[in-house]
Parts: sequence; C-alpha cells; structure tokens
Amino acid sequence: MCGIVGYIGTQAATDILMAGLEKLEYRGYDSAGIATIWEGDIHSVRAKGKLYNLREKLEQIANAAQIGIGHTRWATHGKPEEYNAHPHTDTRGRVAVVQNGIIENYRELREQLQKRGHEFSSDTDTEVIPHLVAEFLQNLSTPHTSLPTPLLEAVRQAVNQLKGAFAIAVICADYPDELIVARQQAPLIIGFGQGEFFCASDTPAIVPYTRAVLNLENGELAKLTPLGVEVYNFGGDRLKKFPRTLNWNPMQVEKQGFRHFMLKEIYEQPGVVRTCLETYINSDWHPDSSQVVEDGVRDGANPIKLGIPDAFYDSLAQIQILACGTSWHASLVGKYLLEQLAGIPTIVQYASEFRYAPSPLIPNTLTIGVTQSGETADTLAALDMEQQRRMDLGTDNQARLLGITNRRESSIAHLVPHIIETHAGIEIGVAATKTFVTQLVAFYCLALDLAYRKKTLPLSQITEIITELRQLPSQMEIVLESQERYIEELAHDFTETQDFIFIGRGINFPIALEGALKLKEISYIHAEGYPAGEMKHGPIALLDAKVPVVAIAMPGMVYEKVLSNAQEAKARDARLIGVTPRNDREAAHVFDHLLPVPVVDELLSPILTVIPLQLLAYHIAARRGLDVDQPRNLAKSVTVE
Ligand code: G6P
Repeated sequence: MCGIVGYIGTQAATDILMAGLEKLEYRGYDSAGIATIWEGDIHSVRAKGKLYNLREKLEQIANAAQIGIGHTRWATHGKPEEYNAHPHTDTRGRVAVVQNGIIENYRELREQLQKRGHEFSSDTDTEVIPHLVAEFLQNLSTPHTSLPTPLLEAVRQAVNQLKGAFAIAVICADYPDELIVARQQAPLIIGFGQGEFFCASDTPAIVPYTRAVLNLENGELAKLTPLGVEVYNFGGDRLKKFPRTLNWNPMQVEKQGFRHFMLKEIYEQPGVVRTCLETYINSDWHPDSSQVVEDGVRDGANPIKLGIPDAFYDSLAQIQILACGTSWHASLVGKYLLEQLAGIPTIVQYASEFRYAPSPLIPNTLTIGVTQSGETADTLAALDMEQQRRMDLGTDNQARLLGITNRRESSIAHLVPHIIETHAGIEIGVAATKTFVTQLVAFYCLALDLAYRKKTLPLSQITEIITELRQLPSQMEIVLESQERYIEELAHDFTETQDFIFIGRGINFPIALEGALKLKEISYIHAEGYPAGEMKHGPIALLDAKVPVVAIAMPGMVYEKVLSNAQEAKARDARLIGVTPRNDREAAHVFDHLLPVPVVDELLSPILTVIPLQLLAYHIAARRGLDVDQPRNLAKSVTVE
C-alpha cells in the first residue's frame, strides 16, 4: 500500500506534493515525508503519524524547490517511527527514494552494501534502493552508460537487482532536473502538464493539475524532466508511449457537506446502483424481444449487456472466484447467485490462501478476480498464477479470466482479457460501501447473463428479477431516509459495547459477515459474523446481556429459521437487533430493535439489508469519536502480500 508522489516543473514542489499526499492518505497513514532538491542539496522532512504532523513541521521550513518526491506509509518493514519514514537516502544524502511495495531480497542486498561501507539508518526494505543507486552512479563512467543520463542508468541497474513488487520515485541532488520513476507490480501513474510532470500511485493526486496520464507498466522506468517524459524498459530500450485523457468528476473526492467520506459514500449507493444497472441491463429489452423458439429454447436479444465472450461460457464446468476482504464477501453472494440462478458450481477462495494451496485445476473453469481497487497484491498474484498454471497445463482455459473492478485503469485490467467495471466512482473511505453494492450488481448481471444464455431460468423469472432489480435504487433511498436518524440514536447505546454477533443465512449470511467487518474495521469493537444455524455450535457460548446480536431476517426460505435462531439468542439475554421487512408483526415480537427495509424477494435483499449495517457501524464509530475514514492499521489498497 503506501502512496508515492513526485513533481518536477515550475511551481513550488512542496505544496503540490502535500496536496497529492492528502489525496493518497487512504493508502496508509503511519508516517509521511517529502524530499526536495534546493540549492544543490536534498532537503528531507519526515514525521510519524498522519499527514498533519508533517504539515506542522513544514510550516517552519520553507523552500522554493521545483522538484520533489513524497510518501505516505503503511508500515510493512520496520515500526511506524520517523526514522523508518520515507524518503530514504544514501549514506551521503545525495539520493532520495520513495517506494510502495516490498523488496523481498532487501536483507541480502543490505548485507552486501554494508560490507561495502554503506551506512543504514532505518529498518526498512526501501533503504537499499538509494544506496544501490548511489553506488551505481559512482561506478558509472559516463560515456559508457547505455541510457542517456547517468541517473536513469543507475536507477535501471538498481531496479534490476530488486526482487519483489515495487513502484519507486528517485531524485538526486547532482541531477536536479530529473525525476526517475520505475514500476514492477505496483501502480504508478505519470501526469503530463505544461512544462511540469507528476507521478503518483493513484490518479486523485494528479487530476487537480492534468487529465493527461500514462500508466507505467511492469518492468518500465521513466525519466521526467521539465521538458518531457521518456519511458524505457528495464533492459534499457526506449519505448514509445502516449498519455491518455482521464474522465474525472472532481466532486467525487470532496465530502460535499457530509461529516465523513464513508457517510457520503453510503448515501451515494442508490445512485451508483442505478448507474450500474443502466449500464448492464438493456433498457430496450422486453421479454417479447427474446424470441421463444420452442420449449425453453430462445434466441434474440439478451437483457444483459456485459459483453462477455461466448467462449467464456462454452461447456462451463465451474466458476472459481478469487478475492480479499469485502470483495470476498461480495463474491460469496455471487456464488449463491451463480449456483442458484445459473446452476454453475462456484467456489470462492481468499486470494491470499489460494496462492499457496491452489485447488486442482478443473477443465472449463471460469476464474473471476474481484477487487474494487484492481490493485490488491494477493488477488493479482493469484490471477497471474492461475493464468500461468493453465498455460503450463496447456488447457483450453487460458483466456477464461474475468475481472470485476471499480478501477478500469488499474492493474487487473492488464491481467485479464475481460473486465466488468462497477461504476461506483472513486471511494475514499477505507471501509468499502458503495463499491460493495455495485459488486453485488455485477454478480446479479453475471448470473442473469449466464442464466439467459444457458437457459437455466424461464424468461418470466428473468423478467421478474430484472423488474425488481430496477426498483432497488428507490428502495435503497427509502432505507436511508427512514433509518438513519433512528440508527444514529441507537448507536448511543453501543459505544461501550465490546462484542457483537451478526447472524444471517443463505444469501444474507455474507451480509452478516460484511456487517461484522464494517463494525470492527471502523469502531474497533470485536464483531463476528456467523451463519445463524451454526450459532449453537459455538458462538452461543459468548452470549449474555452484554453481547448484542444483529440478525438479518428476510422473508424467504430461511426466514422462520433465522427468527428461531434469534429467539435462541434472546433466551440467553442477548439484546436483539433485527434487519427485517417493514411492517412485519412477527419480527416486532422477537426483536428489541428493528431496522426495517422494504419487502423484496430474498434473492435481492442483500443490496438493502447491508445498508442498516453500514449505518450502524458508521454511527457507532463516529460516536466513539474515531477516524471513520482512516481507521487505524488499515489501508484501502493493499498492494503488498
Ligand atoms: C483492504 C480494504 C478493504 C478491501 C480489501 C480488498 O483490506 O481495506 O476495504 O475490501 O482491501 O480490496 P480490493 O480492492 O481488492 O477489493
């Protein structure tokens, strides 16, 4: 994770670097630092903790440098202390480096460098890089360098020594007109301005200045000067690359009157679900337009327009989904839909587990990577491994890889041949909300697409589901309007609570997991999500009057069962909160507190039932006075293993 920024041009670099870091703070906030070149020297300022600590320090130090690099850290190697904060420099303090990623062979490199007299001042893996660059620079005898400038060549030689996933930005006091960047398995974007150039881990840091951007690919490095950008591969060959223009709505990165980004993003959910449905459901489609040829066989217009190639579905035997965190929860809902609507056996695996214990490869498997950021290291590595495995086995499956992501321009798009974009707009709160509900929409559309093409559902049922899906945005608005005040009040009662249990069954079991995850992520209250029917096999032992139980009980196959499970909890004095259908008398008898949602088919209910749980987590955390958008120890984009 970590965020890196860089600037070279004619403006004051410090201001641009700090503004950029502010936009990247979601990637980590254990420490921050910047380095600039001013009057022939590197000036580095670093501070432990959040960006405001660095800002305070900078108030006392002014320079008008026009080149610099910056970093906001999520600690991997070494404690979150100032001496471990980036930028790191070489022994003489002439080269400064920021890095996002992990240098896996840093120990070995560090030992070798130390033997050759380099002095280290941090515990980080990154610090080997400035030392390596400084050493290569010293050993280069300039006309013999293969690249046009010594600094570029020294960085090229250094990155060829590194193993792992990294994105770096490098400056050197002896080459004050050059900013060198390199990428290997971690995101890095270059922004093109007029006589000024930018680099960053993500677009929000760059878009206030320019929409012309270039995504560096793995194994590439670039030299940024006030005159332009040159891109090379790690072998030293010059590459022809051109920037593209970003579509960007600046309002997305403002709070727009909300106290936190998370609350704003919860409120954006009806809108983004609407957009996603409009994107993927054919507005002209009507059951009549799909010709019924003979019993159950149909031809003609598909209601779903995901653009998935036919070859992905041919003789499809299994779907395998790889994901982490909240995306893993969305994938569990996806599994339910793909199995129940399209009849395809589906397995969902944590990408981090799958990497080291992959299940045997079954021919004709479609693999789906789900990642809102498109940058989660484990998910990318698992997908990469899966692709490699298929190639090694020479199966016909090489191209059957699909990505579900909110960031079309991210790394996953380079890994898989087809992407379903979730159109949620940028999400700033570290706890995922609107990106989760749009991932669910992607799965509804995928399951319907498959059901339509494989003819596993009658047309009438597909029509019914589509009609209900289209009603969801206004029903989501009703939940927000009717629930928020009450949940805000209710949150008062739970600010001192230490443990919560969330239960659900069937398609709402993953929502219980998601509700528990939201609460623990932002309020630091211990919470467990459990399948309601399993409660008596363990968690029930935890229950007493101090442990509230939140149950999701929506009419359908398991409604009565969940109510019974809730009763079992009540018999142990647990305080019961129910996410239930509106005006449900039975539920009113069982639960102490009701968080009602409009009555919908159980199959579609997760998009509604998750909202009260997000609001509950939000208001408990806000009431506890916590940093809702940037909870401790977490980062939004986990680009390290
Ligand atoms: C981090 C974030 C979570 C997210 C998970 C997976 O842990 O804090 O909100 O669910 O990464 O991220 P992805 O971008 O792959 O969906």
